Amino acid sequence: MISTQGPFFFPTAHVFLFVFTASTIFHLQQRLAKIQPPWWESQTPVLRPAAPMLGQGGIWTINAIGRLGNQMGEYATLYALAKMNGRPAFITPRMHSTLAPIFRISLPVLHSSTESQIPWQNYYLNDWMEERYRHIPGKYVRLMGYPCSWTFYHHLRQEILQEFTLHDHVREEAQTFLRGLRVNASWPSTFVGVHVRRGDYVHVMLKTWKGVVADRGYLEQAMDWFRARYSSPVFVVTSNGMAWCRENINTSHGDVVFAGNGIEGSPGKDFALLTQCNHTIMTIGTFGIWAAYLAGGQTIYLANYTLPDSPFLKVFKPEAAFLPEWVGIPADLSPLLKH
Ligand SMILES: *[C@@H]1O[C@H](CO)[C@@H](O)[C@H](O)[C@H]1NC(C)=O
Ligand SMILES: *[C@@H]1O[C@H](CO)[C@@H](O)[C@H](O)[C@H]1NC(C)=O
Ligand SMILES: *[C@@H]1O[C@H](CO)[C@@H](O)[C@H](O)[C@H]1NC(C)=O
Ligand SMILES: *[C@@H]1O[C@H](CO)[C@@H](O)[C@H](O)[C@H]1NC(C)=O
Repeated sequence: MISTQGPFFFPTAHVFLFVFTASTIFHLQQRLAKIQPPWWESQTPVLRPAAPMLGQGGIWTINAIGRLGNQMGEYATLYALAKMNGRPAFITPRMHSTLAPIFRISLPVLHSSTESQIPWQNYYLNDWMEERYRHIPGKYVRLMGYPCSWTFYHHLRQEILQEFTLHDHVREEAQTFLRGLRVNASWPSTFVGVHVRRGDYVHVMLKTWKGVVADRGYLEQAMDWFRARYSSPVFVVTSNGMAWCRENINTSHGDVVFAGNGIEGSPGKDFALLTQCNHTIMTIGTFGIWAAYLAGGQTIYLANYTLPDSPFLKVFKPEAAFLPEWVGIPADLSPLLKH
């Protein structure tokens, strides 16, 4: 199963794999321990028992594709499916470098040379849980796809929230920002995080998926929903299209703050701000879905934002993406019908 040159004294490739992987993980641990003590401190119970199991239990991982929200979905899906199938889960260095600077994740990391030598069986996932995923055969499985659905991991919600706990300095930076906000000269008691996904989606939704992104009417309705239910909430807007937000979000109520840096390459600050708010208004995209899931309050999402014959609906099931208690506001599809 592993191509090797030269003689080995180990009776099977499994044993070789175990020793090799355990030692690379050990070295990686040592390296990480030097640079990031907080990452390591909470990990001891997870990493130590994992290593002796490598030989018998196999190694499961998942592709690390897309940006922050996608990789969070991939991480949580790996976590849940590996647990369901009784297999040890490892993440790739790429996923570690996306998630570990922000979250106190606990899954151990494969060394890249180990990753490249394992004869992976690729296993493609849909974006919703299926019965057959409870019995995935294989010891060296690499899950594939962009899964981001609560149907995989909601039964482990507490563990998933634990995995995606912010590092103290990341949370503190967000809290410092929120503590500085005032509405009518008082500190607001209700913070609503607003994530407006624009950028590439504006064109991709229209051209590829026969869909729309959130417009000003949606945001106004969503904000009014909270204004009607909470006294003087403040809306903390983050976006990768902040110029559009400044032009299209009505600030005359005095309860809107444009926040975050909107830099797509370093999304941690925006994400942390959203999770520290009490409630969420999301538009589309996995970044908003995760922010809402972690904030854990009331959530408004943009619903039915594609035409019914959109190919998007073959790969995306709304009922598997949005929690049943979240509130959908249907999109205005009239711009599509004009074309
Ligand atoms: C601020 O105070 C004024 C006067 O009491 C009130 O009319 C207004 O609604 C308040 N604004 C917010 C955003 O709560
Ligand atoms: C913004 O909201 C205020 C108060 O509801 C309203 O009077 C005004 O017409 C709105 N402005 C725009 C551009 O929609
Ligand atoms: C709302 O969020 C703020 C900022 O994170 C927090 O201080 C406050 O305790 C939260 N309120 C509730 C009711 O959870
Ligand atoms: C979206 O469309 C479906 C099918 O027409 C409908 O059942 C559902 O209520 C709509 N969702 C919202 C939030 O309007």
